[in-house]
Amino acid sequence: MHMTTVRDVQAMAGDEQITMLTAYDAATANIVDEAGIDVVLVGDSMGNAVLGYDDTLPVTVDEVASRVGAVARGTDEALVVADMPFLSFGADLAESVENCGRMLKEEGANAVKLESGPHTVELTERLSDLGIPTMAHLGLTPQSVNQTGYTQQATDREEATEILELAQAHEEAGAFALVLEHVPANLAAQVTEAIDIPTIGIGAGSECDGQVLVFTDVVGLAKSSPPFAAQFGDARTEIHDAVSDYADAVRAGEFPAEEHANTESELDDLY
Ligand code: KIV
Repeated sequence: MHMTTVRDVQAMAGDEQITMLTAYDAATANIVDEAGIDVVLVGDSMGNAVLGYDDTLPVTVDEVASRVGAVARGTDEALVVADMPFLSFGADLAESVENCGRMLKEEGANAVKLESGPHTVELTERLSDLGIPTMAHLGLTPQSVNQTGYTQQATDREEATEILELAQAHEEAGAFALVLEHVPANLAAQVTEAIDIPTIGIGAGSECDGQVLVFTDVVGLAKSSPPFAAQFGDARTEIHDAVSDYADAVRAGEFPAEEHANTESELDDLY
């Protein structure tokens, strides 16, 4: 067994594609890990994906912490990255460091991810100095949905230049990798060329150093998925069929069968 480090992930860039997928509990993290995914992201996408919220904004530090702990316990090899939720970072430096540090110190994460902007450059530097590896995230950052919506970002030169400059600023500040979400593929390709840390794309074309998607989209559990996601399985139908077969078996008196029960003869005349 080899535990993946941020250096391993960085060494892959340019050599082989980095695979990253979200997970939110120990059982699925275990499957994701066994399937050979390099980086497991405990995304704040848990808000929409598994917690029943409309977006990621209500997700709390406690909710992420609990899920990070579960994922870390279910993972042997992949790098576990905790996605810091809305307002858990960025307003106050000391509080941000404490929230991020908790994910490593108490929950077993190997790194954190921050939806990034000018306000996360100094924080990224501080976290790196303190031994908290930090993944940056630019382009569509769903915590800013009230400002940007969920549309493709950086479609004009000014915004694209800003993303390129922020990518360089976060690399300089010590970020070990950068997620680029829902930006034009030719911008993602140029950012990948311009910086030395790996870029991991989602809706950013094929020229990044790796790709990330949301677990429920990939396995076909999501009710709706973004246009750039792809479905590689139909878990919703599989789970639905298993659950309704179970209910049918109970109603028909077929479950539990003899092999699922145990009788003790000396208990026969209790009543
Ligand atoms: O929260 C999340 O799952 C993410 C990925 C989609 C990059 O931020």
